[in-house]
Amino acid sequence: MKNAKSDELALDFLRVCEAAAIASARTMGQGDRKHSDHVAVEAMRETMDSVEMRGKIVIGEGERDEAPMLYIGEEVGGKGYPEETRAGFPEIDIAVDPLEGTNLCALGANNAIAVLAAAERGGLLNAPDIYMDKIVVGPSCRGAVDIEAPVKYNLKAIAKSLDREIDDLTVIVLDRPRHEQLVNDVREAGARIRLISDGDLSAGISAAVAGTNIHALMGIGGAPEGVLTAAAMKCLNGEIQAKLVYDPKRLSVDASKVPPVEEVHERLKSMGIDDPDKVYSTDDLAPGERIIFAASGVTDGALLKGVRFFGAGKRTHSVVMTTDTKNIRFVDTVHVEGGPDSVIRF
Ligand code: FBP
Repeated sequence: MKNAKSDELALDFLRVCEAAAIASARTMGQGDRKHSDHVAVEAMRETMDSVEMRGKIVIGEGERDEAPMLYIGEEVGGKGYPEETRAGFPEIDIAVDPLEGTNLCALGANNAIAVLAAAERGGLLNAPDIYMDKIVVGPSCRGAVDIEAPVKYNLKAIAKSLDREIDDLTVIVLDRPRHEQLVNDVREAGARIRLISDGDLSAGISAAVAGTNIHALMGIGGAPEGVLTAAAMKCLNGEIQAKLVYDPKRLSVDASKVPPVEEVHERLKSMGIDDPDKVYSTDDLAPGERIIFAASGVTDGALLKGVRFFGAGKRTHSVVMTTDTKNIRFVDTVHVEGGPDSVIRF
């Protein structure tokens, strides 16, 4: 992204997330998560093409044969420009999650978001779409936690860094059978827990922002969401530590439900990951120096409001952050439709 104007691109990516949020929000509560995701992907893809960049999807909707749009390796951006003009556009790697929390949107529950991260080429880990164990904390706890240490050790370290007691902490955990032990450990250590049905990416962001009353995210979610969380952490000065998880026992599923370990190792090797048990730091997951992170609320959430529709248009609420300009913008956009008599509400 050398010489690219990050601020301008950030606003372009804001438009991309807004479009995906508006499209999926229209389907809120219809009970069809695949449809909600599909319309978000379509809207994101279409808007992405208007951005003046040579973009490449590094984390997307899956492999080319299973995803018609926003598949890994797909080239996006600069549509309609002559090749010589396009050649002058910045090369950008992009990780997308057009609808993070497909179930949340389908049920009209809180915290569904449309999200993407962008960086200069090579600036985001090309992570496989498997599970990832994560611990996410805010700036005051950076350097204090260790994903391989016992839960109590980490909670003590977080409490000390935040100058409070363990029982003053709230930890977010995805409500899944695989987290039975984790939940027991957190309870035993004395911290409070918020169990969530979905959406560990927005939960991770909450953990990094003071004032949300969330002090850590712990547990196993998607690896792609881990990379997007890392991009957000780079902008928010927070920290994520992570490890890939593919052992059916740790996932509390029958071995027949997940690919055999040898197959996973082969796949990881083909993606350039030689050590499947590596502990990933924030910088390993998002090594880029110029990172842009954008997210728009689909349904109401802790950080972002959901899309509101009214006669003369709609209103979106988003956050856009960049590492090089160090700006964190909360953007409330009124998208005006209709003619000159449209009534705009503030
Ligand atoms: P989707 O938006 O793809 O439905 O993902 C939601 C989510 O809850 C993520 O936030 C989380 O990382 C992952 O699913 C957990 O996966 P699983 O539902 O298989 O436990």
